[in-house]
Amino acid sequence: MVNIKNLIKQLEEQRILSKEEFIALLSNLSQEDKEFLRERAQLTAKKQFDNKIYTRGLIEFTNYCKNDCYYCGIRKSNLLAERYRLTNEEIIACCKEGYELGFHTFVLQGGEDGSYSDDDIITIIKMIKKDYPDCAITLSIGEKSYDSYQRFHEAGADRYLLRHETANEEHYNKLHPKTLSLPNRKRCLKELKEIGYQVGAGFMVGSPYQTLENIAEDLIFIKELSPEMIGIGPFIPHHQTPFAKQSRGTLEQTLVIISILRLMMPNALIPATTALGTIDPNGREMGILHGANVVMPNLSPTSVRKKYELYDNKICTGDEAAECRCCLERRMKKIGYELTSDRGDFKPEV
Ligand code: SAM
Ligand code: FES
Repeated sequence: MVNIKNLIKQLEEQRILSKEEFIALLSNLSQEDKEFLRERAQLTAKKQFDNKIYTRGLIEFTNYCKNDCYYCGIRKSNLLAERYRLTNEEIIACCKEGYELGFHTFVLQGGEDGSYSDDDIITIIKMIKKDYPDCAITLSIGEKSYDSYQRFHEAGADRYLLRHETANEEHYNKLHPKTLSLPNRKRCLKELKEIGYQVGAGFMVGSPYQTLENIAEDLIFIKELSPEMIGIGPFIPHHQTPFAKQSRGTLEQTLVIISILRLMMPNALIPATTALGTIDPNGREMGILHGANVVMPNLSPTSVRKKYELYDNKICTGDEAAECRCCLERRMKKIGYELTSDRGDFKPEV
């Protein structure tokens, strides 16, 4: 019988486990072990970041998408999704509002919207950098060529979020149509790193057909890639997708994985995601107490919030940006943490 506490200590010291050890850890955690894991992860995050939580202003600038990921509410086959694009003026207005609220990172996220040429994206990046040179720009617009990624980087994009979704090819193909492939996803991540972006990988916890073995593979993949940011949230079904009837990921498992990742990568930037806040009213607070150190309030205009519906019952779709910021500030304060206006770049370990 494996001693789970020893396995957690081993993870903390060596920052990695074998696939078999990860599976043993994930399948045998008692409540007491979970609390021990949580404490170690929280302590690790505190040592690195004190009680400071970084903020990123999320701007969901388009919900058009040429892809058809089976889990995603804005997939192209969802003909009931009401599509929108923000104008450049609307995007810069989001940044203005965000900047006044203290945000120093803007995340431009969207579906893979073919109507934007690389030059269009470069225009947006330059427009934001011109008005807000002290802010970081994070792109989250999917799979592109090396050349496009390089041009965006040269224009001023600092970071790129592209979850790998699952490191197992068979599993990947159960979540995506044939037009998408794991090798291409990995190619993108590798190139983004090569170019010099701060890169975010990650996956959904409890996605359909996911096994503990898959999760162990994801953890090992993340360790090897060594991304600066790691996005982990529960899978939540969307009623107009092929996965409408699948069950959602659990709060408990998501929190365990956040803690494991924190012990593996003490200085990584790990958000307590909106999806986590959607499956539990205190999900984001719990994420922080389990080792996360970033929150990403929404800066998109309230008129489009509901349309960027990746999954059912997404929270914060009715609130103004300022309300979201204040609400999170309050929530973090309640658990002894503080939002910081720092840009929140990846830093070496302390
Ligand atoms: N198009 C870009 C991309 O694919 O990277 C960015 C937008 S995409 C909607 C952002 C992330 O949302 C995906 O990487 C996926 O992990 C997450 N997501 C999509 N559908 C979800 C669902 N039903 N439940 C939880 N997360 C979901
Ligand atoms: Fe394109 Fe989800 S299928 S963003």
